[in-house]
Amino acid sequence: MPTATEDLAATLTPLFSLDARAFVPSPIRALAPLLSDPTVLSFAAGVPNPETFPAAALSAAASRALATAPTRVLQYDVTAGYAPLREKVAARSTARGLPVAAREILLTTGSQQGLDLSSRVLLDPGDVILVEVPTYVGALGTIAARRARPVGVRRDATGIDLDHLASTVGRLRAEGTPVKALYTIPSFQNPSGLAMTKGAKDALAEACERLGLFVLEDDPYGELAFEGPGEPADPTPLASRIPGRTAYLGSFSKTLAAGLRVGWISGPAPFLAKVELAKQASDLCSSTFAAAVIDLYLAENDYDAHLSGLRGFYEARKEILLGAMRESFPADCRFTDPRGGLFTWVELRHGLDAGELLPRAVAEERVAFVPGAPFVVEGDGRRFLRMTFAKEPPEKLVEGARRLGRLFSTAAR
Ligand SMILES: Cc1ncc(COP(=O)(O)O)c(C=O)c1O
Repeated sequence: MPTATEDLAATLTPLFSLDARAFVPSPIRALAPLLSDPTVLSFAAGVPNPETFPAAALSAAASRALATAPTRVLQYDVTAGYAPLREKVAARSTARGLPVAAREILLTTGSQQGLDLSSRVLLDPGDVILVEVPTYVGALGTIAARRARPVGVRRDATGIDLDHLASTVGRLRAEGTPVKALYTIPSFQNPSGLAMTKGAKDALAEACERLGLFVLEDDPYGELAFEGPGEPADPTPLASRIPGRTAYLGSFSKTLAAGLRVGWISGPAPFLAKVELAKQASDLCSSTFAAAVIDLYLAENDYDAHLSGLRGFYEARKEILLGAMRESFPADCRFTDPRGGLFTWVELRHGLDAGELLPRAVAEERVAFVPGAPFVVEGDGRRFLRMTFAKEPPEKLVEGARRLGRLFSTAAR
């Protein structure tokens, strides 16, 4: 006997659009039952540490916004969003080496919405968008929702493999497949933690120009560059090199408070005009109130000092976790040493499968991580996994690394 839910599904499914039939659940959210047990030590979360949210200052900003301008901050706004915050975002972007005016900024509901709107503007069903290997799973979900196809280009410790990029574009175009854009996370990438060098960004910009590719530059971690010893990562956005063919996606999620859902997009005027229409159709405008809270926070607080504290917080945890991994992980296991962001990307020895090891890690060692395969659109991602140093306190980072090291050392091929 079919259940009532199955009956309903059979009735309603034929009514769903082709787009809706292409929606795929996030493979990471599907692991939630394994990953959400609070008694399990977690390297899995893809979220900022809540201790870093400046809750008191945001609360003061929220009270002030309501007390001083209630009719403004509780009202709809223009689709591009709250003008005072756009001014501040434009000034910060200009100071970081990407000169933009406030009219060239559109506020979004997190950079995830920026990705969705950009995909709607750029991609038709069947189009190819190039993505890094590995890349952010949330972008792959957005691409799937457009019924477009992600095709992987290799990325290493310095940047994208440009020979692979050119040969992939050449091959696809020779087959008659439209290749319009590249989606990239140049700085402290999710999941690898890697950052492109200045030279790699220069060369990538030239290659995109030559190949006629539009670029979606996703940069939620760019301001989380560590300040300790070592070569500092190049801070300038890729977009500053090719502003006429790049959309830059920014976010306050990782630096202030993810739950406020405030991000932004800047890009060339004809592109942004289409994004604005897509946003109008989607949600009219983002939350005026959330934007006003951030605007007042920025006006009343030393945001740069906050960012500096945040970088120190994550860098200290990264050092602790990687130190423990160097001691406890088997010698044939490699991992990235990020210069910013929240993640390290781990490569197990050939023959091991992180997806198969996760249930054992949770059951036997009470530790969770995210298997790498969902981040990898081309090639075999099974022996990779993503770990964050953002969530657990120092002593648990060390203990968790020790337990995982035990599992990875003894796991049979
Ligand atoms: C690379 C990347 N892009 C976009 C997002 C979405 O962030 P937001 O909260 O700004 O929508 C994330 C979140 O984890 C991310 O890692």
